[in-house]
Amino acid sequence: MRIWHPLLGALAAIACLASPAETFGQESPWRDGTLDSSMIESGKRLYLRKCAFCHGSGGRGDGSVARYVFPKPRDLSMGLYKIHSTPTGGLPTDQDLFRTLSRGLPGTTMPSWSNLSTMQRWQLVAYIKTFSDRFENEMDLEFQPITIGTPKPPYPESVASGQRLFLEAQCWTCHGMKGKGDGPSSHTLVDDWDYPIIPADLTSSRNWRGGYRPEDAYRSIAVGIGGTPMPSFDDALTEDQLWDIVNYLLWNIGS
Ligand code: HEC
Ligand code: HEC
Repeated sequence: MRIWHPLLGALAAIACLASPAETFGQESPWRDGTLDSSMIESGKRLYLRKCAFCHGSGGRGDGSVARYVFPKPRDLSMGLYKIHSTPTGGLPTDQDLFRTLSRGLPGTTMPSWSNLSTMQRWQLVAYIKTFSDRFENEMDLEFQPITIGTPKPPYPESVASGQRLFLEAQCWTCHGMKGKGDGPSSHTLVDDWDYPIIPADLTSSRNWRGGYRPEDAYRSIAVGIGGTPMPSFDDALTEDQLWDIVNYLLWNIGS
């Protein structure tokens, strides 16, 4: 065995370089309740340079290139977000927004901003929250993120159970029997921003807005995708069943 160690070490190093550890769980710099206004000011300057041509200088999703892209840049003044780890209707947490900025929204023109420093991304989070009163008005409601446990190993029984649940929970009506996003209801769906929307193609997980790690898929299915017909399933399905569906998507129909 020992002779393989240098090789394994080198492989591990390459793997680490290829996928740097995600540090999205970190707390915001204002977790102690002190958000100083210079942070918001810096965020505003960055926003006007990097984001306004899509999201509009007032955050209404009406920047100069907005008309050329689909889906449309988010109207940040509505306080309605697709990606949140809180139950349906909840606002995204600061960490959710930080993660969205860091990763971008795959499958759309919303890029990853991981080239900006951690502090710059937090400054942007602080600033974009000022576009909607919801963050201030609903502060006391303290939307708690759902608990995401440890992924279940993708044993064949779990994948098979996920396949049954995909039918029973009616996922296929939107996503299609093979998960291509072409189920019988797929042509009738509209999102809360009044645009037609098609269900995600579950065979290409790299284009999922909220990410394709098992924990991401679990979150998207458990709480749904905000402002879209993708419902939440945390009441209808147990934690075990949710992991079975995740395993089915990632290990059978997905790629
Ligand atoms: C090239 C256009 C473009 C640029 C530049 C851009 N965005 Fe976006 N952004 C989008 C689009 C398109 C969406 C909506 C995608 C969707 O609905 O799936 C989006 C969505 C978002 C969302 C909502 C995420 C959610 O959960 O709904 C946030 C927050 C956001 N952008 C922040 C930013 C910030 C901050 C910047 C600048 C650092 C930025 N965007 C720059 C196109 C852009
Ligand atoms: C009423 C229609 C509908 C049903 C039922 C439905 N979905 Fe969806 N789903 C959607 C739509 C629409 C989207 C795309 C959202 C977007 O593009 O922003 C989506 C997106 C997704 C995504 C991608 C999330 C992401 O991060 O982009 C996954 C995974 C998913 N659905 C799984 C499921 C599973 C599993 C079920 C059943 C337990 C299910 N869906 C039931 C409509 C539906």
